[in-house]
Amino acid sequence: MLATAALLALAGCRQDMHNQPKYVPLRSSEFFKDGRSARMPVDHTVARNTLVEDTQFYKGGNVFEDQYFLTGKINGQPGDKFPLPVTKEVLARGHERYTIYCTPCHSRTGDGDGMIPSRGLKRPPSFHDARLKKEPIGYFYDVMTNGFGAMLNYSAQVKPEDRWAIAAYIRALQLSQDAKLSDVPENERKNIKDLAPNAPSVLTQPVGHKPGEVQNTTNTEKTQQGGKH
Ligand code: HEC
Repeated sequence: MLATAALLALAGCRQDMHNQPKYVPLRSSEFFKDGRSARMPVDHTVARNTLVEDTQFYKGGNVFEDQYFLTGKINGQPGDKFPLPVTKEVLARGHERYTIYCTPCHSRTGDGDGMIPSRGLKRPPSFHDARLKKEPIGYFYDVMTNGFGAMLNYSAQVKPEDRWAIAAYIRALQLSQDAKLSDVPENERKNIKDLAPNAPSVLTQPVGHKPGEVQNTTNTEKTQQGGKH
C-alpha cells in the first residue's frame, strides 16, 4: 500500500517534470500563427562570428567558388583544385592542424598506424595507398566535412579554411613518402644526402633512373618489407 502510494507520488513528480513551459527544438506551437515555435530572427539581425550561410558575404568572390570552398564538390563530385592559394603558411597551418586532429589515428606519416587504431579502433587506410593518392583534393575535404565509414566528421572542430590546409598537407605527406631525388631541385640534392645518410635507396639512387623503377614501390610495400617510419 505504502509502496503504491510512493509510486503514485513519484509518477506525479515525473508528470510535472514532463510538462515544462518550454518548447523542445522544432516542436509545433499553437501560440504563433504559423505554428512554429522556432522563430525567425527579427529583420536586420546581424550574425556574429560564424556567418557561413551567406558564402558570398563570408568569402567574397563568386558563389560557385564559395560552394566549392564549403563542400569540396563540383556537381556533386569531389573537385580537383584548391579554392585558396597554397602558401608555406597554409601548409604550416595544415601540418599543425593535422598533428592535432588526425595523427591519433592516421599517424604522423599518414600510414594509419596511429595510437587509437593500435588500441582497437578500425585501422584507417594509409594515405600512401595508390587509391588515396589518386583521389582528388576535394575528396579529403569531403571526408573531413562529412566523415567516412567508421570515421566521424571533423566539421565542428576544424573550420573550412583549416580543412583545406589539412588536405594540402596530406598531399605534401603523400609526396614526402614517395619522393624521388629527381623531385628535388638540382642544387639541393647534395644537402639531402648529407642530411639523411640512411635515406631509403629511392632517394640515393643516381638521378636519371627510369621513372618506372620506383613508381610501383608504394608505401605499403615498403612497410611490409619491414621499413617502419
Ligand atoms: C578517431 C580516429 C580518426 C581520426 C582522429 C581521424 N580519422 Fe580519418 N579515418 C579513420 C578511420 C577508422 C578510417 C577508415 C573508415 C572506414 O573505412 O570505415 C578513416 C579514413 C579516412 C580517410 C580515407 C577514406 C577512404 O576513402 O578510405 C581519410 C581521407 C581520412 N580518414 C582523413 C582524416 C583526416 C584529414 C583527419 C583529421 C582531420 C582524420 N581522418 C582523423 C579514423 C580517424
